[in-house]
Amino acid sequence: MSVVLAFIAISTSLHSKPGDPISPGKVAFHELSLNASKALRRAGFNFTATLFQVSPEIFLSSPNSTIFAIQDQVISNSSLPPWLLKDLLQYHTCPLNLPMDELLKKPQGSCLPTLHRKKNIAITKIDLEEKSIEINHVVVSHPNVFLGKTISVHGVLEPFSSLDPQDVHQGWNIIQAPICDSTSVLVSDVLESKNMVEWSWIVRLLSSNGFIPFAIGLNSVLDGILEDYRGLESVTIFAPPSLSSLTSASPLLKRTVRFHILPQRLTYQELAALPSGMLLTTLSPDLHVEVRGTASFEQGLVVNGVKIAAPDMFSSKNFTIHGISRAFEVVQAPDTPV
Ligand SMILES: *[C@@H]1O[C@H](CO)[C@@H](O)[C@H](O)[C@H]1NC(C)=O
Ligand SMILES: *[C@@H]1O[C@H](CO)[C@@H](O)[C@H](O)[C@H]1NC(C)=O
Ligand SMILES: *[C@@H]1O[C@H](CO)[C@@H](O)[C@H](O)[C@H]1NC(C)=O
Ligand SMILES: *[C@@H]1O[C@H](CO)[C@@H](O)[C@H](O)[C@H]1NC(C)=O
Ligand SMILES: *[C@@H]1O[C@H](CO)[C@@H](O)[C@H](O)[C@H]1NC(C)=O
Repeated sequence: MSVVLAFIAISTSLHSKPGDPISPGKVAFHELSLNASKALRRAGFNFTATLFQVSPEIFLSSPNSTIFAIQDQVISNSSLPPWLLKDLLQYHTCPLNLPMDELLKKPQGSCLPTLHRKKNIAITKIDLEEKSIEINHVVVSHPNVFLGKTISVHGVLEPFSSLDPQDVHQGWNIIQAPICDSTSVLVSDVLESKNMVEWSWIVRLLSSNGFIPFAIGLNSVLDGILEDYRGLESVTIFAPPSLSSLTSASPLLKRTVRFHILPQRLTYQELAALPSGMLLTTLSPDLHVEVRGTASFEQGLVVNGVKIAAPDMFSSKNFTIHGISRAFEVVQAPDTPV
């Protein structure tokens, strides 16, 4: 658990820009997160309480927010890697301040936005007499754990989306958002269902096998890839052990990560069968990779001069991942101002 917390703390500080959390001031921000943290600890939500102290920006990156804290045991039992856990926490944060009274005024079936890739949560049941409410079929068991001027914190016993490892393997995204009426939700559902690549599984595989910088980089530029490549059915990924441009979601990081991905699945054998020197298109359309055999076949293939160290390291029907010995060097596009 502490490893997870430490990782989240590090990866969120990597991604946060100075002045990112919009707050009346640093002191008030600190005080608010401290107050929320104390209230959560009193209510037995120690995990979220600790996160509020080490990485309040996960929850407080929007001016107003409602946080649904998940019970400790569920979180500590989950085998999710930290970055997926962060996605999950953002899915439990709504960028509107909704104390229980406000929640009870919403019509049953209505949807609320979250901080996670614009996915919504749905109010699936409202009982005005009991003053109880269910979100994604999960009861809000601890209403109003903390109420601040701009935030509300409630407790829930279960997460809003399955943490079952079986489900995590199903699609690119662990978060199963409910179907809502609003058009924005329908649009994003269509967008996701059109991209056939199991991105969350890929991120998981990379991260749990030591390709952590690349996994973090990929995860942080995924939104753009999903937007730009809606019909994508399969990919080849050249995974380097490290990335030098791992600083926030910069244009360079985006370019670098995309440079390592081909919009088609090519196994090592298929790559070897290509004419030597052939250029292949990447997800960064102006950047190509060149595949060559080395003088002796045993030394294998090189891509852009970099050796494929672990051919077909992981693969499924729709992707294959080759481990490479170092990252490709990104050259500035001729028409890009420096
Ligand atoms: C935090 O709690 C203290 C003591 O209860 C209170 O005086 C202060 O206004 C609170 N600050 C915020 C930002 O909620
Ligand atoms: C939560 O923290 C409090 C105070 O630090 C401690 O007394 C309690 O045992 C903790 N609960 C759990 C479930 O770890
Ligand atoms: C935050 O909430 C306050 C009070 O409800 C509202 O006036 C303000 O516009 C909200 N800010 C944003 C950015 O939604
Ligand atoms: C967590 O796991 C332990 C043992 O692995 C189990 O006894 C316990 O019931 C689980 N708790 C929850 C809330 O799933
Ligand atoms: C793989 O792509 C095919 C289309 O080529 C698609 O029908 C299938 O659902 C995809 N598999 C997964 C696991 O997404």
